[in-house]
Amino acid sequence: MIHHLIFLCFCITPFLSLALAVDTISGNETLSGDRTLLSSGGGNFVLGFFHPGNSSRYYIGIWYRRVPTQTIVWVANREAPISDSNSAQLTVLNGNLVLLNESRSVIWSTGLNSTNSNNSNVVAVLLDDGNLVLRDGSGSGSNSSVGEYLWESFDHPDRTWLPGGKIAYDKRTQRRQLLTSWKNSEDPAPGLFSLELDPNGRQYIIRWNRTEQYWTSGSWNDHIFSLVPEMRLNYIYNFSYVDNVNESYFTYSLYNPSTISRFIMDVSGQVKMLSWDNRDWTLFWSQPRQQCEVYAYCGAFGTCGQTSMPFCNCLPGFRNKSDSDWSLGDFSGGCVRELDLQCESNRTNGRRDKFFARPNMGLPEHPQPLMVGSASECESACLDNCSCSAYAYDGNGCSLWNGELLNLQQLTEGVGNERTINIRLSASSSVFSGSKNNKGIIIGAIVGSIAVFLAILAIVMAIIWRRRRKTVSKSVEGSLVAFGYKDLQSATKNFSDKLGGGGFGSVFKGILPDSTVIAVKKLESINQGEKQFRTEVSTIGTIQHVNLVRLRGFCSEGSKKLLVYDHMENGSLDSHLFKAKEPKVLEWQKRYQIALGIARGLQYLHEKCRDCIIHCDIKPENILLDSEFCPKVADFGLAKLVGRDFSRVLTTMRGTRGYLAPEWISGVAITAKADVYSYGMVLFELVSGRRNSENSEDGKVKFFPSWAASVTIDGGDVLELLDPILDRSADVEEVLKICKVACWCIQDDENIRPSIGQVVQILEGLMDVNLPPVPRSLQVFVESQEHIVFFTESSSSGQSSSQTKSNTSSASSHSKPSTQSTN
Ligand SMILES: *[C@@H]1O[C@H](CO)[C@@H](O)[C@H](O)[C@H]1NC(C)=O
Ligand SMILES: *[C@@H]1O[C@H](CO)[C@@H](O)[C@H](O)[C@H]1NC(C)=O
Ligand SMILES: *[C@@H]1O[C@H](CO)[C@@H](O)[C@H](O)[C@H]1NC(C)=O
Ligand SMILES: *[C@@H]1O[C@H](CO)[C@@H](O)[C@H](O)[C@H]1NC(C)=O
Ligand SMILES: *[C@@H]1O[C@H](CO)[C@@H](O)[C@H](O)[C@H]1NC(C)=O
Ligand SMILES: *[C@@H]1O[C@H](CO)[C@@H](O)[C@H](O)[C@H]1NC(C)=O
Ligand SMILES: *[C@@H]1O[C@H](CO)[C@@H](O)[C@H](O)[C@H]1NC(C)=O
Ligand SMILES: *[C@@H]1O[C@H](CO)[C@@H](O)[C@H](O)[C@H]1NC(C)=O
Ligand SMILES: *[C@@H]1O[C@H](CO)[C@@H](O)[C@H](O)[C@H]1NC(C)=O
Ligand SMILES: *[C@@H]1O[C@H](CO)[C@@H](O)[C@H](O)[C@H]1NC(C)=O
Ligand SMILES: *[C@@H]1O[C@H](CO)[C@@H](O)[C@H](O)[C@H]1NC(C)=O
Ligand SMILES: *[C@@H]1O[C@H](CO)[C@@H](O)[C@H](O)[C@H]1NC(C)=O
Repeated sequence: MIHHLIFLCFCITPFLSLALAVDTISGNETLSGDRTLLSSGGGNFVLGFFHPGNSSRYYIGIWYRRVPTQTIVWVANREAPISDSNSAQLTVLNGNLVLLNESRSVIWSTGLNSTNSNNSNVVAVLLDDGNLVLRDGSGSGSNSSVGEYLWESFDHPDRTWLPGGKIAYDKRTQRRQLLTSWKNSEDPAPGLFSLELDPNGRQYIIRWNRTEQYWTSGSWNDHIFSLVPEMRLNYIYNFSYVDNVNESYFTYSLYNPSTISRFIMDVSGQVKMLSWDNRDWTLFWSQPRQQCEVYAYCGAFGTCGQTSMPFCNCLPGFRNKSDSDWSLGDFSGGCVRELDLQCESNRTNGRRDKFFARPNMGLPEHPQPLMVGSASECESACLDNCSCSAYAYDGNGCSLWNGELLNLQQLTEGVGNERTINIRLSASSSVFSGSKNNKGIIIGAIVGSIAVFLAILAIVMAIIWRRRRKTVSKSVEGSLVAFGYKDLQSATKNFSDKLGGGGFGSVFKGILPDSTVIAVKKLESINQGEKQFRTEVSTIGTIQHVNLVRLRGFCSEGSKKLLVYDHMENGSLDSHLFKAKEPKVLEWQKRYQIALGIARGLQYLHEKCRDCIIHCDIKPENILLDSEFCPKVADFGLAKLVGRDFSRVLTTMRGTRGYLAPEWISGVAITAKADVYSYGMVLFELVSGRRNSENSEDGKVKFFPSWAASVTIDGGDVLELLDPILDRSADVEEVLKICKVACWCIQDDENIRPSIGQVVQILEGLMDVNLPPVPRSLQVFVESQEHIVFFTESSSSGQSSSQTKSNTSSASSHSKPSTQSTN
């Protein structure tokens, strides 16, 4: 396939230019077989026949010329494939672009009413942004009637939304354009999931089967979609909203036009943004975040389990409807009964169906409520109607479901909304003759013989013991996986590849059997009980944000406590800032985005989580960078795991005291402002490219934040402060802004420090920042060498507690950063 493609790209172009205008099809020309059309200008896109995967069905499509794994961005005849590309023809006929099959019948057409255009002049042109257009080709070739397209493929997207394209609402026809998933990875026919614009809310929604809405972006506020806060950290896609008399739509461009990027409605029911990194398509963003939030992802009678692999399974008594569809990742067909209901073969036998109770389920939508007083009445009501396929009964009463059961979710105990559903099955179904019934028989035997009783006792003990062991590999909550220690040991090759060490334990690189790369943290000095540990870990697991490292799972076997995280390709920030040997210089624009990203991650911890989480250990070592250099805050929530014993935390974080706010030492209660202080210290290091506490060559301590504060406040040349490796190449305004923010953040009085939310607004340009006052402890520092101990790394904890306590209130008369809004 790949060879074939390369042949097309590099060899066919000269050949084509003999046969066809490279980018254009006109009235007397046709495209068939292996011939392709190359887009005008840069030749970014190719149009031609393709067949997806191993299928023998051919389609007309557009794909990237520079991406070696053929990636289709548009399909013409989604629903009408042809079987022989050599005898099929794509041509312009009566003012339309049409696809003719072997017997010259039109099987796909642009479908224009061609009365008002001069038919013989119409040409189809593939533009360099991937848009295939029909236009009047009379006059001077490709320069005529610019903008006046008779038809364009951007108005008829399939699953891909390319930069420059749009997903619109047409006010004249009141029609919503759809971005529709493929049916499966080998069939471009429209699938069940579609994205559309809801013009009233200035938001996008995703629906299942064009009806059931299961996701919304939240409304557009001119910067982001309200329910997609992580889009704030986005320096790839520039979205904008257009609203005119004819239509409203969003469109987007790429900040860096040379990146190859696309937005798709995936067969998984998620929207995804992907970028080509010269080897692979890497996922930049996807929503809904969890697979099982996609409505009816597993089809009828299927259950979706966020922790099960694969996500989809059939209910007991059911089997997958189509093995081949399931293996292609199309679960929408769902499951069918292994045995027909008695009810269906003989109505009077309906009462001989039975119910199988399935606990811990997320129930289907649209139940039929029924006012009955007991579970047996509820069951009986379901039995009486042949179309009733399940019931649930609890304090809220009786719910019945008719026909197919959709959107069942397998939850884990303790999530909160899990319930037991009773599934109607044929009484002769094998699920009723399994081990459960054997138990009953055995219980009968107990009465007869004490010997048997003892044997049973042994079996029961064995079962209990087994169950206990089983819980080790059972998941705790949501997306967290409980790993076995052995699995992690083999994934990390017996903890051989150490990525780093930290206050809470060492981190090792590992590779899971499905070749996902992970980072495994071996926790030290965790003396918590099992239950408390799991509670704490599952809390951390629910915290997900684009600027926070995601916890995938954990392992807890006795004293062995490990956490499993996503592995971050570019390591931690300190390795890029402080180690000059790194091949890639972190240029200023990236540094600014990193500063913003860290702030957003912290803001999420401080303000958006259910309980405010204070990180307590913000430093470059705890800022990880993914392949796009998107920063991810690591190690959050661990301070809580160690316990609320701050002296303990202090000891654990020994060696990183340059980032600790004075209140850690003065002993007053720690608030989120302690993180703001550490964040300010990190900002200085982003600017200078060296440790704040680093000694200069002549052995004299030169404390960078003091210097930076005085340059900033005195209106000096801030580019002087910049990491020399950047050679002064940076936006002066941005450097000044960062320095001001950093000075505000490291104020001794936490009340004067801005909240991290304010920092985010300032860095986003939504809020202005005034000149900061000189941080008191810096003044003191410059005056008196005694206080060096507070900022150097080698000092041990505890001994300097009295030294900075004195000046906490003296600065409180200073003004706070201005909060006036700039727009
Ligand atoms: C196609 O038609 C145009 C004018 O209609 C003519 O100039 C051109 O030579 C034709 N090309 C071929 C290959 O017949
Ligand atoms: C195509 O078929 C070959 C051989 O039959 C198989 O190895 C390969 O995995 C198939 N590819 C896809 C995408 O199904
Ligand atoms: C071409 O399409 C027509 C109309 O859809 C159909 O009747 C005919 O069988 C097709 N021919 C071939 C060879 O598939
Ligand atoms: C095309 O023309 C027919 C009859 O002339 C008309 O009924 C139909 O609405 C037109 N379609 C469009 C899309 O304009
Ligand atoms: C259509 O094109 C032909 C040839 O280019 C020209 O002679 C004719 O006048 C055009 N007709 C109209 C209605 O534009
Ligand atoms: C298009 O035509 C205009 C004049 O009509 C000319 O100035 C311009 O350079 C042309 N553009 C291209 C891309 O040929
Ligand atoms: C989708 O909806 C259509 C009618 O709106 C219905 O006929 C079809 O069965 C639905 N598909 C599924 C998979 O339920
Ligand atoms: C983003 O897109 C808008 C609208 O197309 C444009 O005005 C703006 O300049 C773009 N911004 C950047 C930074 O490219
Ligand atoms: C709206 O549509 C009309 C008719 O198609 C067109 O003339 C006009 O330019 C359009 N307006 C905008 C803003 O696109
Ligand atoms: C579908 O069901 C069959 C039989 O129950 C099973 O062998 C097969 O593995 C299943 N396929 C998938 C993809 O789960
Ligand atoms: C249905 O079952 C009843 C009772 O078992 C029996 O009398 C009746 O003949 C059956 N009807 C059919 C159509 O099998
Ligand atoms: C069974 O329930 C369906 C849906 O509520 C209803 O339409 C139907 O009439 C019921 N059948 C009987 C026999 O009650």
